[in-house]
Amino acid sequence: ALHLKQAAQGKVRIGSAVRASVLANAAEPAYAQFVRDELDSVTTENELKWDAVEPAQGTFTYGAADTIVDFGQANQLDVRGHTLVWHNALPDWVKAYDVPGEANRLALNAILEQHIRTVVGHYAGRVKVWDVVNEPLADDGTRRSNSMWQRRLGDDYIANSFRWAHEADPGAKLYLNEYGIEMDSAKARSLYELVRGLRALGVPIDGVGFQTHQMLGAERLSGLSNVMRQFADLGLDVAITELDVRIPGVPATGEQLAQQATAFATAVKACLSVPRCVSITTWGFTDKYSWMTNNPDPKYAGWGEATLLDASYVKKPAYNAMLATLATT
Ligand code: G3I
Repeated sequence: ALHLKQAAQGKVRIGSAVRASVLANAAEPAYAQFVRDELDSVTTENELKWDAVEPAQGTFTYGAADTIVDFGQANQLDVRGHTLVWHNALPDWVKAYDVPGEANRLALNAILEQHIRTVVGHYAGRVKVWDVVNEPLADDGTRRSNSMWQRRLGDDYIANSFRWAHEADPGAKLYLNEYGIEMDSAKARSLYELVRGLRALGVPIDGVGFQTHQMLGAERLSGLSNVMRQFADLGLDVAITELDVRIPGVPATGEQLAQQATAFATAVKACLSVPRCVSITTWGFTDKYSWMTNNPDPKYAGWGEATLLDASYVKKPAYNAMLATLATT
């Protein structure tokens, strides 16, 4: 049978977020098999977040991330490292620096620099792409005030993070990754100005990642190719980095699964219509292991079945639509 990466050959790289614990689980062979058969690229879903990789100051734990990086290398897959600078998934020792004062600011800045240089340096030549800064903006397009990086280091943390990452691995592609920028909006325009400013200063940023998490019935995809083109016109690559389409009131009906398939196809088409859209990554590929499955956050209650395969690895209409769109667009 034709696989996603074959259908996409030459047009775009196809990837997914993966979990080391499942990839390494010999009792779950279908998971690794899908990755090998279908994909060009893997993203670490959680294994390179700060709490996973530097749980105590100066103690770097690469085991879980290595599972993914080694698997990627063994199978000729690109590895996307996610993510260096985010307001979530911080260990308590970092959060302890979320206090005012110039001495603290200097200490926190040094901690960030050390983290980026160490982790990127460790994987130099093996992680092809980094999500350097993740989700810097609030939904209204202002700088995210619930980020301790923004609050304590100010706007400069973004440019500095890219510079440190570039010095640690000049060959890696460095991305800013954001959600909710798939349509023209205050947030998308604000991110554009932010990135334009970075480019004007010569900051080493290579790409912008569009997370592209969607809610069935409220898809925001019709502007995606236009927004991507605007960023591409700044001389950047763009990518879909976390595509999924969550369904309300699971279990889904046949009609909902068909609508979900249309949404996946629409997102794929948008990327294929932009020459500098270099990759399409889904946020997981089976409903068995998705952030939308049994998410304890009450705001996601009832939502699920967001990925290409069901919990038994059976291909859903969304998979078939993605395959057909890649093959025929
Ligand atoms: O592995 C532990 C398990 O041992 C423990 O029993 C359980 C109890 O809570 O937690 C498990 O860890 C969870 C982990 O996912 C693995 O599933 C964490 O609690 C949970 O917070 C973590 O959530 C991740 C979330 O980011 C926060 O880091 C999701 O898997 C991950 O899909 C999600 O990904 C984010 C992207 O990084 C950025 N964009 C949005 C996207 C979705 O929220």
